[in-house]
Amino acid sequence: MSLFDQTQAVENHFAKSNPNYLESMFGRTDLAPLWIADMEFKIAAPISEELKRLVDRGVYSYEFIEKDVVQAISDWNLKRHQLQLDTSSFLQVPGVLTGISILVRELSQERDAVLVQTPVYHQFFKLIKSANRTVVENPLKIQDGKYFIDFEDLEQKFKSEKVKLMILCNPHNPVGRVWTKEEMIQLNHLANQYGVTIISDEIHSDIIFSTSKFNSIASVDTLQKHIAVIGSPAKTFGMHSISNGYLYVPNEDVRQQLKSIIGGMYLDHGNILSAYGTIAAYTKGEEWLNELLGYLEQSNQWIKEFVSNELPAVTLFQPEGTYQIWLDFSALKLSDEILQHLVVDKAKLALTPGNWFGEQHGQFMRMNIASPLATLQDAFYRLKKAIDERDQLTELKKEASKGCCSC
Ligand SMILES: Cc1ncc(COP(=O)(O)O)c(C=O)c1O
Repeated sequence: MSLFDQTQAVENHFAKSNPNYLESMFGRTDLAPLWIADMEFKIAAPISEELKRLVDRGVYSYEFIEKDVVQAISDWNLKRHQLQLDTSSFLQVPGVLTGISILVRELSQERDAVLVQTPVYHQFFKLIKSANRTVVENPLKIQDGKYFIDFEDLEQKFKSEKVKLMILCNPHNPVGRVWTKEEMIQLNHLANQYGVTIISDEIHSDIIFSTSKFNSIASVDTLQKHIAVIGSPAKTFGMHSISNGYLYVPNEDVRQQLKSIIGGMYLDHGNILSAYGTIAAYTKGEEWLNELLGYLEQSNQWIKEFVSNELPAVTLFQPEGTYQIWLDFSALKLSDEILQHLVVDKAKLALTPGNWFGEQHGQFMRMNIASPLATLQDAFYRLKKAIDERDQLTELKKEASKGCCSC
């Protein structure tokens, strides 16, 4: 039995299974929580041991070890991704979304255009809009069952919308693409040509399956002018609620500008549990991560076979990275509302509705697969039963169409 087969019966108020959250998001609480992108697995033993060591010390005097943290991140990237990162180009922030929000606010003006590639992680919309910037979409295109960047549309939007910033998601949440070197070169070239700064969210950069290789935008950046990378150990090591974020900004002027605002607000102080936990993760967590990736690949394989044999009307986008899978239900020919009813009320699953990632994705759902395989299997059996029995949804269909005609 694998470490990752074990369910964790610990007392908690985890957001994904919190009845109040489930009730407000899905209207009921008896659901398998496969929506929020975190892990149900216990973190690597060396990280736990390090956290215990700090708790046992019992003294929490101010302690700043950012240099050691950055060294650990840099060494990890060199070993894991053959990516050379200059330790003097990092800035510490409380989290990835905080980091991106600071970048958006510092590197653009109100009403400036910020481009995202839909479908995309829904928090990007919120952080752009709450900074009073304008969202410009460069929809990804599907070819032969795989998502690609539409470079023609991208260039056109860079020009016509006077795009100032682009938030890249690499690997891409929710479609699971790990962008190739060629794609990153082409993107970087266009960004340089049109003076667009790429904010590259690389939080999922270590969840890469064996058929792919991670290519940071930093690995193809020639000008060192128009990129800012942000990452953290959160997704890699399941440290979601205990990690800081790390900005990597090669351009000296831009980095100094950011440093003064981040330092001026004392957002770089960090938390010593996160700091030592991060060092432990990157220096002693590799074996655990390799096991995790093997486990996730097996789960992916099981899901792929199940969907192709048992759910012919569902299209699965096989992820190259991330522990999210993206499912297309459009062949069922149900309305968005009925589909949601099928998944939530019949299959009793809390999946992330596709329209969170872009309005036109109501026929899609994202499922988080960082759970024991048995949990995922149970979810898919329930999904199959609900789909097989979908004729019983006719009553609701009639209700829905009644509502529609009267409007
Ligand atoms: C692409 C992406 N960026 C950022 C985050 C959140 O990062 P943080 O919790 O460090 O703000 C997530 C979480 O799901 C994510 O998927």
